[in-house]
Amino acid sequence: MGRARTLAQVYRQFGEVDAAGTSPLYERVAVALSESDEALRAIEVAPARRRHPTVILAALHDLALAGRAPALAAAYAAGDSNAAARAAIDTLLRMTDSVVAIAVRRRTRPDETGRCAVLYPAIAEAARRVGAKAVGLIDVGCSAGLNLNVDRVGITYSNRQSLGDPSSPVQLSASIVGDRRVPARVMPEVVARIGVDLDPVDVTDPDDARWLRACLWPDQPERAARLDAEMALAATAPPLLLQGAAVDVLPDAFARVPAEALPVVTTTWTLSRFALASRLRFLHRLDEAATGRVVAWVSAEGVGVAPAIPTLGDRRASGHSIIGLAVFDQSSMRAEAIGRCWSRGRLLAWLADSARSGNNGCTRQRTA
Ligand SMILES: C[S@@+](CC[C@H](N)C(=O)[O-])C[C@H]1O[C@@H](n2cnc3c(N)ncnc32)[C@H](O)[C@@H]1O
Repeated sequence: MGRARTLAQVYRQFGEVDAAGTSPLYERVAVALSESDEALRAIEVAPARRRHPTVILAALHDLALAGRAPALAAAYAAGDSNAAARAAIDTLLRMTDSVVAIAVRRRTRPDETGRCAVLYPAIAEAARRVGAKAVGLIDVGCSAGLNLNVDRVGITYSNRQSLGDPSSPVQLSASIVGDRRVPARVMPEVVARIGVDLDPVDVTDPDDARWLRACLWPDQPERAARLDAEMALAATAPPLLLQGAAVDVLPDAFARVPAEALPVVTTTWTLSRFALASRLRFLHRLDEAATGRVVAWVSAEGVGVAPAIPTLGDRRASGHSIIGLAVFDQSSMRAEAIGRCWSRGRLLAWLADSARSGNNGCTRQRTA
């Protein structure tokens, strides 16, 4: 009883606090689940760590998108929250094993589209500093690898600058904070696209692609359309996905970047998932790779999360992130904070003086 009450509170709070104002469908469905003893018992069939509303609601959404829960799909499509609540409970009770199997097998994914507004100018800046004519992208914590499309999307900034491909089917926008313009430089040719993740998502696999959609809330059609467009673009030139822990897989990833190209490792909101020791080992892997070639690392991570990247004196967990650029050559590593960003890169402030290495950095002798 005690555990069921706690679960009920979790679902009620998710509905009344997290989903309220954002998703009327999930607000109603979560509260309805919290009020149904039968539904809560069905959720308790899942292991404790897989009972959270984001997991169970995504599993139900996945069944709806797969055509296995037609009444739920119809209620979501109609935006009918009462019908959705009834259908969600009914689906959960009829298909408990399927819901639990999905909840156990899948990790929920954040809405991971749109990072390119931050990545494009930072990667182009890395290439400029090194004089690279070609780059090989290695995205660590790549999930579905959407960051690896960075040169194939169009980006419009609120100050009327634009970067990337204006004819791309994926057009992103971002707001510029402050006066400084992002560098207008075009990114050099991308000759390798490599994603590294413990559990990569293959956008060419229908089940994987559906799961990414299922992790969005059903009354977010604009997000779903953007995700569909980004996945369709990615599917036309799928990245090489390497599964495993970054510290183990990175040497293989570097080996796959042609010698004439600059390897640019990117991390976007990934390193907080690494234990501190793993973050340092990750840095060490970049150092090791730079024994034989110049290596760059572009990061967008919470304040103080990316090792060696200056924090600009900002407080940790202050809600924004630091855009970092580190260049490792044979003798030194220069790490710099080149910007700040908010809302996963939908707002950004560029800080670097793109005519030279900026003042927000530090240089140290390499250790490897
Ligand atoms: C919070 S998600 C960020 C995904 C994406 N970069 C973004 O911008 O939304 C973290 C990702 O890192 C992956 N991950 C966590 N630990 C990892 C590790 N040690 N090595 C490689 N990938 C890891 C997870 O599987 C997950 O896809």
